[in-house]
Amino acid sequence: MMRIDIISLFPDMFAGPFGHSIIKRAREAGLLSVQVTNPRDFAFDKHHIVDDYPFGGGAGMVMKPDPVFLAVESVTAERESDKRRVILMCPGGQSFTQQKARELAGYEQLVFICGHYEGLDDRVRQHLADEAVSIGDYVLTGGELPAMVVVDAVARMLPGVLGASDGAEQDSFYSGLLEYPQYTRPRDFRGWSVPDVLISGDHAKIARWRRKQSLKNTLERRPDLLVDFPLNAEDAALLEE
Ligand code: ADE
Repeated sequence: MMRIDIISLFPDMFAGPFGHSIIKRAREAGLLSVQVTNPRDFAFDKHHIVDDYPFGGGAGMVMKPDPVFLAVESVTAERESDKRRVILMCPGGQSFTQQKARELAGYEQLVFICGHYEGLDDRVRQHLADEAVSIGDYVLTGGELPAMVVVDAVARMLPGVLGASDGAEQDSFYSGLLEYPQYTRPRDFRGWSVPDVLISGDHAKIARWRRKQSLKNTLERRPDLLVDFPLNAEDAALLEE
């Protein structure tokens, strides 16, 4: 069972997202557990203050380090550090990728710290987090939505979370290529029909068609992906057909 801890000043944000569909089933099957811990519960002054003015001046408030350290330490006490990863969500982190999702799925425990840009004492990044992760080059109001994105991507990589047939091996990015297009009934919809090859029953032909579509779509829409995934002779020939 993978244990996921989220350190957030806004625990209510997590009430919905993990209660549906595949993630819900994974939790119910005991493959995954998700807990949210609020640093405010570790601010022991009368008003449970979690932020303060920035040293050096400037606008905005900065999250204090002590409640965040105590919140993380309250969930990491009983596990060896090499089996867990403490991840700070912030726009200045390393870009999140499918490869990173696969790597994180190998740990027993993941702790996500939801930071606020220019708003979290940097000693958290330096001395508490193992790494900092960004979900893209844009700035959100906090690390909560990014943490949800990463948890979702990691959860579906865990053994048993996806069924055998919809396994992660079928994914875009697993092979380094975009997915081939899928169709379902009706065969004719508003005059747009499903490609004949998919109704042919010729499985070898269908597999070749799908491979070709993957290659074509990747070349047209995301040629940058092919830098890490050079085409072999067989794929190059398929594209020429
Ligand atoms: N916090 C704010 N923006 C973020 C981003 N793009 N990725 C991760 N954490 C963030």
